[in-house]
Amino acid sequence: MTAFQIERAGPLSGTVPVQGSKNTILPILAASLINPGKTVLHNVPRIRDVENMVSLMREIGCRVIWEKRTLTIDAEKIRCGCLPKEAAVSMRSSINLLAPLLVRCGCVEMNLPGGCSLGKRPIDLHLHALERMGAAITIEDDQIHARASGFRGAEICFRFPSVGATQQALTAAAAAEGETRIMNAAREPEVVQLCCFLKEMGITVRGEGTSMIQVTGSANRKPVEFHICADRIVAATCMSAVAVCGGSAYLAGVRAPEMEGITAPFMEMGCEAVFDPSGLRISRTGTLKPISYIETKPYPGFPTDVQSLLLAVLTQADGQSVVKENVFEARFRAAYQLQKMGADIIIDNNCAMIRKSRLKGTLVEAPDLRGGAALVIAGLAAEGTTYITGCEHISRGYEDLAGMLRQLGVVGAVLTETELL
Ligand code: UD1
Repeated sequence: MTAFQIERAGPLSGTVPVQGSKNTILPILAASLINPGKTVLHNVPRIRDVENMVSLMREIGCRVIWEKRTLTIDAEKIRCGCLPKEAAVSMRSSINLLAPLLVRCGCVEMNLPGGCSLGKRPIDLHLHALERMGAAITIEDDQIHARASGFRGAEICFRFPSVGATQQALTAAAAAEGETRIMNAAREPEVVQLCCFLKEMGITVRGEGTSMIQVTGSANRKPVEFHICADRIVAATCMSAVAVCGGSAYLAGVRAPEMEGITAPFMEMGCEAVFDPSGLRISRTGTLKPISYIETKPYPGFPTDVQSLLLAVLTQADGQSVVKENVFEARFRAAYQLQKMGADIIIDNNCAMIRKSRLKGTLVEAPDLRGGAALVIAGLAAEGTTYITGCEHISRGYEDLAGMLRQLGVVGAVLTETELL
């Protein structure tokens, strides 16, 4: 069985180019389908979620060519009808294809997207947006039946600023007749990037990055060439490694505006974060300080995707911290694995209390993508060797996490086949 093997590491130093953003590329890949011409995407991360999405797009007839980190998509011919069940169920992001396939085919039959380890992940807001724009959707036996003979611009108001539902609404609105206004829209950088991509396609978008986005759809959509920005959660993973080990790392490609909500807690813990036009330098020389209270929130708040990483880091801080999770109900699963390593973490509903802990390397299992990365970070601080199974979660979102840590001077970070497991 493959395991991620990690040893304790001393102060880090070095430069890493941060891979392209997973949560940016996935909705952009889906949105590329509303453009029957070519789409060229640069800085695409070679991760399993992207590979799965590309397979799914090929299955419905797109021609997709990988050349290093550039993807060329030709969506001229799409086979309409049903989305293959296994593919739809295997990844949450298959739901992103609903609006673009309705635009191209007028009718979609697909399974509900796969269950997810973060808890219930309803799609009611996605459906609400598409219904407001004229789609007729029913769900029977986990099967979505959707029809739309062209979308019409509409006013959409979300009860929660969902990232995925905002992206779904934007993609439909880009191809809709007339103007759409999305109220209580998500403000995440990944939403802003999708808006930039749609603008390159010739769509008029206003208000991206705020809670009210206005889109004027167009039937004249042109080919796009677009660069995928650095992954802010991968950047946060490197920041966590530096916070735990000390030292300094330069994270090439990371931009200040996308890191709002992430740099503040690292600075509170005593790290130094300095941006220049090409990247971010993160350092820690003094002691690691606790965070008395922090809670996850939609952007520009502290992101839920960084919560598990922060739990691991805070086990090394000099004092007691409290972290509250507000976005996903099952985001504390990594904490139970950290406890196996000796972490002093008490979970009470959606709050975690963390005290300074002496971690010991042992066999643990990645519960989800960011939870897996959190265990790697804990392994950097643990005595002895930590083995992490469930590596398939980690490879969904990281190109080469072990290689990235080695670039920062971590000697004992490898993917290994071991009998021990
Ligand atoms: C995206 C990210 C994920 C990140 C999350 C929040 C991708 C591929 N994934 O997920 O990494 O953790 O944003 O920043 O970009 N909700 C509903 N109904 C819906 C949709 C969502 O109730 O129709 C709820 C969810 O259950 C959750 C909250 O809204 O409690 C946030 O979800 P959302 O922002 O939609 O996350 P995703 O787009 O799924």
